[in-house]
Amino acid sequence: MSPKREIHAPRGSKLNTKGWGQEAALRLLMNNLDPDVAKDPDNLIVYGGKGKAARNWEAFDKIVQSLKELENDETLLIQSGKPVGIFKTSTYAPRVLISNAQIVPRWATDDVFWELERKGLTMFGQMTAGSWIYIGTQGVLQGTYETLSALARKEFKSDSLKGKWVLSSGLGEMGGAQPLAITMNEGVALVVEVDESKIDRRIKGKYLDYKSKDLDEALRMKDEFLEEGKAYSIGLLGNAATVYTKLVEMNIVPDVVTDQTAAHDLNIGYIPEGYTIEQAMEETQKNHEKYIRDVYQSIVKEVKAIIWFKEHGAKVFDYGNNLRTRAKEWGYQRAFEIPGYVPAYLRDLFAIGSGPFRWVALSGEPSDIYKIDDAIIKNFSQDEHLVKWIRLAKERVKFQGLPARICYASYGQREAIGLLINDMVRDGELSAPVAIGRDHHDTGSVASPFRETEAMKDGSDAIADWPILNVLLNASSGATWVSLHHGGGTGIGNSIHAGFVLVVDGTKEAEEKAKRVLNADPGIGVIRHADAGYEDSIKLIKKGVKFKTPYF
Ligand SMILES: NC(=O)c1ccc[n+]([C@@H]2O[C@H](COP(=O)([O-])OP(=O)(O)OC[C@H]3O[C@@H](n4cnc5c(N)ncnc54)[C@H](O)[C@@H]3O)[C@@H](O)[C@H]2O)c1
Repeated sequence: MSPKREIHAPRGSKLNTKGWGQEAALRLLMNNLDPDVAKDPDNLIVYGGKGKAARNWEAFDKIVQSLKELENDETLLIQSGKPVGIFKTSTYAPRVLISNAQIVPRWATDDVFWELERKGLTMFGQMTAGSWIYIGTQGVLQGTYETLSALARKEFKSDSLKGKWVLSSGLGEMGGAQPLAITMNEGVALVVEVDESKIDRRIKGKYLDYKSKDLDEALRMKDEFLEEGKAYSIGLLGNAATVYTKLVEMNIVPDVVTDQTAAHDLNIGYIPEGYTIEQAMEETQKNHEKYIRDVYQSIVKEVKAIIWFKEHGAKVFDYGNNLRTRAKEWGYQRAFEIPGYVPAYLRDLFAIGSGPFRWVALSGEPSDIYKIDDAIIKNFSQDEHLVKWIRLAKERVKFQGLPARICYASYGQREAIGLLINDMVRDGELSAPVAIGRDHHDTGSVASPFRETEAMKDGSDAIADWPILNVLLNASSGATWVSLHHGGGTGIGNSIHAGFVLVVDGTKEAEEKAKRVLNADPGIGVIRHADAGYEDSIKLIKKGVKFKTPYF
């Protein structure tokens, strides 16, 4: 039995450690396990299946102790969630080096990995769980917002989804961000969810506006909102396979179609037609083979409907939940006619070094984040897209744990934002230093052929040198801590990815580090995409960048 503990990060400007690098690592590790942030803090699980912050409570305590004692020229090593050594390095070196879930490729299967995990030898760190920079639902909200915004620009030549409606399904932990991301893009959302309690929960949290139990009623509401130009969302109680197929029969074509049920998990992630949640839980145990057959059949039915929508003009995409793979596994050969969301919409952003950049107020003061919001609105007024997001986020995003902000920022912008924040700390405008970082789901930091690197122009989807170079480069450039993980997002055997965090404390040294890290990190993303033949990356390099590359 795990002991029951409640963890909250320290707040304020007083150090509990010997420097702000160690302090940031301590606060963000603890923040990842705050009950307001983590999915299952008792078991150290932060998000994303079993994505953990530390191997076990003993390891957690030893990490905390080590960070408290760590000198400013020492580096702590974390081996899959367990602190294993402290070495004298230098003030410029990272305070923490993290490697999570690495396993020799031939052994990189679910069976082997989870067996080793059960033996206590490794830990699954997801992306930002084991690298201590998770910021709660704001991350997925912004990612979904950005994906839909990129879709609007590319497919509708518009900076919003005004006048369009989006059909999706799943209002779970991640999928629950969809209705708000759609209405923030000024579109109308119709999201099918089989579990009524999930609909109610999202209405309560203000992520969703209305509930309906009847398709005809939901369609009337959708029409009304479109006519009146109102961006509202409807959660429709029902099964996605049934509703999507019914719409095909009614000859109704949404503007955009996707799905965010947990189809990656056949056992309980996708509820087949004709089952309630309770029946599904029971049948997956009792009549497993029949249950799995039913799951596959419903998935294929839904995917066929999505292909029909595509053929009739809807913009459709797979949102990283393996729906296509499942349909193909059941023999539906056309499943991959649905494009993945990265090649369809995010690749253009990754190609210019743009990705999910974030910062956390170590003080715990929401006002620090609001002041940075205001400074960005003032200093980046020429970037309407960025300013629009920051304004919306300031107004509508509720903080979880330490106050934080995320935005998609490109090569050049990230360095400028980092330096702006460091200046604000230096000038006493903020009440404590700020930790700057990002998701591993980024431009130059991930190899994941089912998601981030699907369908690369030159076929380099599975080449994993890039995240390794990324982590080495960030460590050499002055990052406060760096992390190299395996298996995040798409599971064991399917991805290698890296992250960093940089603390800016207003000093000259932090300014130097910000100039290096925030140039190097997105810069390698630009090189990775230029190397694969993406024109926008090559153009950006030719226009002038702060790095050299022998090929361009
Ligand atoms: N694209 C990305 O960046 C990204 C990010 C995170 C997660 N994901 C993927 O998205 C999926 C959803 O993640 P989550 O955390 O929200 O999962 P979750 O398990 O919390 O939620 C899934 C929801 O789908 C509902 N559902 C299941 N089958 C249904 C059906 N047939 N019809 C209607 N509703 C149904 C469930 O009731 C549940 O509420 C996962 O597969 C995850 O891996 C993608």
